[in-house]
Amino acid sequence: MQFQWYPGHMTKAKRQMQEDIRLVDLVIELVDARIPLSSRNPDIDSLGAGKARLILLNKADLADPKQNEKWEQFFRQKGFFVVRLDARNRNGMKQVSNVIMEACKEKIERDRRRGILNRPVRAMVVGIPNVGKSTFINTFAGKACAKTGNKPGVTKGKQWIRLNKNVELLDTPGILWPKFEDQSVGLRLAFIGSMNDEILNIDELSLELIRVLLQDYPQCLRERYQLSEETDPVKLLEEIATNRHCVKRGNEIDYSKAAALLLDEFRTGKLGKITLEKTYISE
Ligand code: G4P
Repeated sequence: MQFQWYPGHMTKAKRQMQEDIRLVDLVIELVDARIPLSSRNPDIDSLGAGKARLILLNKADLADPKQNEKWEQFFRQKGFFVVRLDARNRNGMKQVSNVIMEACKEKIERDRRRGILNRPVRAMVVGIPNVGKSTFINTFAGKACAKTGNKPGVTKGKQWIRLNKNVELLDTPGILWPKFEDQSVGLRLAFIGSMNDEILNIDELSLELIRVLLQDYPQCLRERYQLSEETDPVKLLEEIATNRHCVKRGNEIDYSKAAALLLDEFRTGKLGKITLEKTYISE
């Protein structure tokens, strides 16, 4: 399957992000916990050089808990602060606040030594489309937050959301673009629904997903659809179609309907907590 990404306005977005990053102490990068590498663009490492860095392994509710732990370790070893998160759930947010303070400890200390007290830490959210940036900002900021207006020394028009007395967040996230190093990155993004389904061949995509699941999470697939021991993806899609009554007029098997059903159930977590990209950190 061929994937393409049309950068279009990406150059502008990158320039904007470079400007915005200059204003903050901390870069909060969201990745999708199901594909923590394919859902990030490592260019952010040079864009965010010299800033404190926090990675939020978002949608952790949909990913394999064991893998979440390993990915957390993986990114920690690379020098990031890390929090596993379900951005739609306010519960993780207190931990995020605490980790933000921890990540910016040095800066706060430096300010203190210079006699600057109570200057809030400034942060911005970045990530590729669909990783949950807006959800995070909305949930994190909640209703209680007050938007702060333009301030002297801050680029005109920038909106900062005051989260608490210690932290201010830029209200617009920086959008990164996926990095298509090989086709498997595009495929993983398509599996989780981060590519426009209209440009994809859904039948083919579902067969690829069956192949991946058969290898890494066979029980999730077989139990959900009561499948036989069959290993041919096309036959398995046929079994899914039969078991879920995906038929067209004339009792013909509706492969596309079964394919869409499988993808939807995977994306919404009905197949179980599944991570499609593994780390090689030992147990
Ligand atoms: P973006 O700004 O990075 O583009 O992402 P956005 O917040 O729009 O989130 C994309 C989708 O991911 C949304 O679903 C959102 O609800 C969902 N989402 C965000 N964070 C999490 C999470 O931690 N766990 C899970 N399970 N889902 C999350 P949507 O289908 O586009 O909208 P809706 O169904 O919420 O209306």
